[in-house]
Amino acid sequence: MSPLNPAGADARGIGTTGRTDARETEPTDRANARGTTASPGPPHPLEWPVYDDGVAARVAELVTLGRTFDYDYGPELAELERSFAERHGRAHALALTSGTAGLLAAYFALGIGPGDEVIVPDLTFFSTASPLFLLGAVPVLCDAGDASGNVAAADVEALVTSRTVAIVVTHLWGHSCDMDALRAVADRRGLALVEDCSHAHGSTFRSRPVGSMGDISVFSVGGRKLISGGMGGMLLTDSEDVFARACLLTNFRHRTDLTIDAVRYKPFLLTGLGGNFRISTPGAVLAQSHLDRLDELVERRVANMSALAAGLGELPGVRPSPVAEGVTMGAWYDGVVEVTPECPFSRDGLVVAGQERGLKVRAPATRPLHVFPLFQGTAPDWSPQVAAAVRAASAVNDRPFPRSTELFARWMKLPVNFLWEPNSPLVGAYLDAFDDAFSMARTA
Ligand SMILES: Cc1ncc(COP(=O)(O)O)c(C=O)c1O
Repeated sequence: MSPLNPAGADARGIGTTGRTDARETEPTDRANARGTTASPGPPHPLEWPVYDDGVAARVAELVTLGRTFDYDYGPELAELERSFAERHGRAHALALTSGTAGLLAAYFALGIGPGDEVIVPDLTFFSTASPLFLLGAVPVLCDAGDASGNVAAADVEALVTSRTVAIVVTHLWGHSCDMDALRAVADRRGLALVEDCSHAHGSTFRSRPVGSMGDISVFSVGGRKLISGGMGGMLLTDSEDVFARACLLTNFRHRTDLTIDAVRYKPFLLTGLGGNFRISTPGAVLAQSHLDRLDELVERRVANMSALAAGLGELPGVRPSPVAEGVTMGAWYDGVVEVTPECPFSRDGLVVAGQERGLKVRAPATRPLHVFPLFQGTAPDWSPQVAAAVRAASAVNDRPFPRSTELFARWMKLPVNFLWEPNSPLVGAYLDAFDDAFSMARTA
C-alpha cells in the first residue's frame, strides 16, 4: 500500500473513498432524481494520479528532512527540467506551480500586453486564455475545426488582424493539432505560436512530440494529468530570452541567479519581476516519477481507451473521436465519444443510462469558453486594464461558434482516469453495461 494513497489498492469503489471528483454527479443522485435505483456498477480502481511505493518513500524522506521547498536550484528541480527538456528536444525547461502559471509566464515572456489580440481555441480549458486578461490582452476565440475539437489553421488565419500577436493551440483530449499548417500561418503572419499541451503528454504529430513544435510549449503537470506532481506546470522553449523572462516572472534570488546568463537581466536577478511560481520539491519528485514511466503509462492508457472507444463505436449513433493520420495519442484527458442523432439515447440520456449502471460517465467538464461570463463581458471592476480586455474580448467574440457548441452538446466523457491499469477489466465491464442499456432501449 502506498502512503500517498492511504486508502490502498484494496479500497475499490471510489464513491466510498472520498476521492471522487467533486464535479461528478454520483450515479445514485441522478437515478434517485429519476425515481430509479442505481446499480453499484463495476469496481473502480483508485482514480489517477496514482504513485508507486518507491516515490512515496522518496517523498516521505523529503518531508522528514524538511526538504519541502527549493529557493535554490536543487537536484530534484534540475532533474525534472533537464529530463522534460531532453524528452521534447528543447533547450530550456521551467518547472512551475501549475499549467496556468506556465501560460501566464509564456504570454508575459512573449511581451504580450494591453490591447494585443491572441487567437485561442473556443474548446479548451479556460486557463489557456484567462491569463491573457491579467496582461490586458484580448483572447479571440476560434471555433472547432473538425470532430477532434481542435482548431483548423484556415479558421485561425481568418481571425488574424493587425492587432494579433500570437496563436495559442490546445491539443484537445490528447489529439495533436495540425502543427505544420499552424506553423505556416504563424510564420506567414509573423506571429508567435504557443502550444498548450496539458491534455497531451506523450502525444505525437508526424513523429514529433507535442511540446516540441511551438515557440513556447506549456504542460500542466498537476491534477489528474498523466504526469502529475500534485500541482505543477512546465514551460518549454528554445529561446534563451523567452526562458529568462519567464524565469524572472516566476522566480527570484538564487534560482534566477543560477540559470539566467544574459547581462541585461543581471539587475533583476535578486528580485525577479513579481512572481514566485516554482514547483515544490515533493511535487517535482512526484512529476518525475510519472515522466520516467511515461511510455509505459501512455501505452496502457492508449490500449484501454482505444479498446473502450472502439467497442462503444460499434453501438448505433456512438462515434469515437477521430485520430488523424500522422497523430499518435499519448495521454487522454476527458477522452470522449460523440453521441449522434442516430443514437436511441440523447447524450444526457446515455449519460444517465450509464450512471444508473454505476459507470463514471458524464458530460465533459471542459466547455466552450464563449459560454463563460468572463468571455461575455462581465468585467471584474478591480483593474481597469483587465476590465478593458474583458470588454474588448466580449465584443470580438460576439458571434456564433456552431461547431464547438454542437460537439460539446454531443460529447460524453469516458472514465479515462480509472483506466490506468494494464488491460483494465473496466473496459469489458463498460462495454457490457452499455450493451445492456442499448438492448433495453431496443426492447422498450
Ligand atoms: C488545456 C489546459 N490548459 C491549462 C490547464 C491548467 O493547468 P493547471 O490546472 O495545472 O493550472 C488545464 C488544466 O486542466 C488544461 O486542461
